[in-house]
Amino acid sequence: MERELIIVLDFGGQYNQLIARRVRECNVYAEVHSYEKLTLDQIKEMNPKGIIFTGGPNSVYGKDSATYDSAIFDLGIPILGICYGAQLMAHLLGGTVKTAPVSEYGHTKTELTKEDSAIFDKIPGHVTTWMSHTDYIAEAPAGFEITAHTKDCPVAAMENEARGFYAVQFHPEVNHTEYGSDLLRNFVYNVCKCKGDWKMDSFVQATVEQLRAKIGNGKILLALSGGVDSSVAAALLAKAVGKQLTCVFVDHGLLRKDEGDQVEAVFGPKGQFDLNFIRVNAADRYYAKLAGVTEPEAKRKIIGEEFIRVFEEESLKIGAVDFLAQGTIYPDVIESGLGKSATIKSHHNVGGLPENISFKEIVEPLRMLFKDEVRKAGLELGLPEYLVFRQPFPGPGLGIRIIGEVTAEKVKIVQDADAIYREAIDTAVREGKMKAKPNQYFAALSNMRSVGVMGDFRTYDYAVVLRAVNTSDFMTADCTEIPFEVLQKVMNRIINEVKGVNRVMWDLTSKPPGTIEME
Ligand code: XMP
Repeated sequence: MERELIIVLDFGGQYNQLIARRVRECNVYAEVHSYEKLTLDQIKEMNPKGIIFTGGPNSVYGKDSATYDSAIFDLGIPILGICYGAQLMAHLLGGTVKTAPVSEYGHTKTELTKEDSAIFDKIPGHVTTWMSHTDYIAEAPAGFEITAHTKDCPVAAMENEARGFYAVQFHPEVNHTEYGSDLLRNFVYNVCKCKGDWKMDSFVQATVEQLRAKIGNGKILLALSGGVDSSVAAALLAKAVGKQLTCVFVDHGLLRKDEGDQVEAVFGPKGQFDLNFIRVNAADRYYAKLAGVTEPEAKRKIIGEEFIRVFEEESLKIGAVDFLAQGTIYPDVIESGLGKSATIKSHHNVGGLPENISFKEIVEPLRMLFKDEVRKAGLELGLPEYLVFRQPFPGPGLGIRIIGEVTAEKVKIVQDADAIYREAIDTAVREGKMKAKPNQYFAALSNMRSVGVMGDFRTYDYAVVLRAVNTSDFMTADCTEIPFEVLQKVMNRIINEVKGVNRVMWDLTSKPPGTIEME
């Protein structure tokens, strides 16, 4: 299937992913490729409708600066240069790039002087843009018209309309730039003449076809955790190759209440997908390995390693496979800007890649997607909403929500308390007592036991800690304000219904200085 494609040619900037995402938001498929890895011939073969040059903090005129074969300008393909990409375009086409007398950083008033520019369509003449540069284009190359400036930047945008080359010094992809998304949309539609054929259904269809072509009659193995990414990968692969796919679901006994059964209900023999599903109930093995271990990183390591061992054992039973599938998504791709190799997700990777499984190749069908796009694909594939919109859950599971030693008894306590808490939040949102669910919320078990009184008796039981945070990136987070009435209800139910708990505490800490998880 011929699909419209925009190539984001990455020169090492931090916003490459965001640019691709903005383009895809315009219903045009975009892929990020490192300038070091993608040859001119490959670009020709990929036949993109347009190319976007992106970021990079360095100077284009440095000895080792990122650059590209200037024959790229002879392909007849429209190009948009952003920031470093703009300077590179200027430099390669004979303009002048210099250290700016005044560097610009942050919100910057920008005047767009060419009203009828194809990329400024329906954008007002005065906008605030986001700048971040110390060099600037001092002179535009021959054939270019200057189309925008700021107080300190004489060439904030330039274009050679006849050749389809456009450049902006500011970052249209970040929200701080007013009308930034419109500018990218204008480039994609007005300049590259895209029609907008990228939608989740076309992604699903195209990926299914690609997977079929790649996998052929081969066997493929996937470690299914029940998280969003591996579930969507499983659904895609099942649609593509059915029973050639085997999913191994390792229930490590550190999942939330009933979660193992929910995963089985969707992917198991009674579920909606045609695949081989193997559930390994390995809780006892994990608890035995974790006995007496209190140090958080040691727990993580054990859980990760044990996963690899169980997974290997199961796959040995299946015999040789041709492919190993991974639910890697775009944010997991480390240093993707430089096209370096992918990291493999979550705790599955803590113990390393399985060494004793023989396979020819790794298949990562979600490698180009952002989380929200993965979710859309999941819905498209018919996965239930509770699975698609699950809050993040760490690979080591409740193992890092139980402070100190993990035991079966403590797991049960934290599972029950957490289920009550989540149910109460769902109810509070449904009844309008809270506007939205926190981005992540859970109960954890402190290792503290304290004296309490229940009825006429002294108790000496555990303290459950409730946590809820709002965050967009999970790097920083604020404690969510939960109505006191809701918290009190949760406290009452936990104390009454969960044996072994006589105290419920509320964690007020933001991140930093705290982290989201307790360990
Ligand atoms: P922290 O606790 O570092 O968590 O503030 C940030 C986000 O990462 C998740 N998290 C993990 N996920 N393995 C995972 O797969 C882990 O070991 C792990 N530790 C933390 C956490 O749930 C939060 O969303």
